[in-house]
Amino acid sequence: MSRLNLREIELAYDDSSSGPAIVLLHGYPFDCSMWREQIDFLGNHGYRVVAPDLRGLGESKSRDEIATMNAMARDVEALMDELKIDRAVVCGLSMGSYVGLEFVHLFPSRAQALILAGARAQGADALEKKSRQEQAERVLREGLGPVADAMLPKLLARRTLAEKPDIVASVREMILRTNPQGAAAAQRGMAARRDHTSDLLKIDMPTLIIAGREDTIRAPDDADFLHRGIRNSRLKIIADAAHLMNMEQPELFNRVTLDFIVGEFKN
Ligand code: MLT
Repeated sequence: MSRLNLREIELAYDDSSSGPAIVLLHGYPFDCSMWREQIDFLGNHGYRVVAPDLRGLGESKSRDEIATMNAMARDVEALMDELKIDRAVVCGLSMGSYVGLEFVHLFPSRAQALILAGARAQGADALEKKSRQEQAERVLREGLGPVADAMLPKLLARRTLAEKPDIVASVREMILRTNPQGAAAAQRGMAARRDHTSDLLKIDMPTLIIAGREDTIRAPDDADFLHRGIRNSRLKIIADAAHLMNMEQPELFNRVTLDFIVGEFKN
């Protein structure tokens, strides 16, 4: 992992292979290791893959009490500047999709195309805000153990839970390594995220939306809403996958992503 000192934070990131750039933005409460299969696959197919640990998570350090999607998107822009990447395909999963939407809102000319997985356009309503505040307080009090127990059954599809113990174990380990302070800050940031509903019409870059058929955190209906709102978008639903579809069905996720990206770089 490389490190970039950015204003008040230190951002850790993986930057591998060479070619047109793809930036991968992870979900909560994870880090860039969730993209291992995509980093290797896309790198082997001629792309430069940049995957940061978003502020306060993974190996990135920050003292934020609230890590907003806006700050995370600005970190991504600063990282691209540092790496001399003018434009990239931006791919975000779940919290990473909120950051991706914020990124294209702030810096539309820096994204060649957008990939949104396990995504949602709407901001948090009062109930969601309250629940995120409670989760932030709980994670500071009790650490990530209860988060792992509560989230695992929702993050993964039934077949993954039953048949892929290595994936289950690596997701659990990734959650347990997360810094509670960073997790709480990210929860507060997600509570405050922008509602992108009315921005969707303005997104004119090619967009791929991917959903796990069994995802109950960000359901296929959320993906459908994005698909209907973003003019130049296509939608792919992956079976036997839930929220962490890229880890559960890496071959399918990689193939769908590569086909989309190849098409974009041809144009
Ligand atoms: C994620 O995977 O990033 C989270 O589940 C997002 C969320 O809590 O909305």
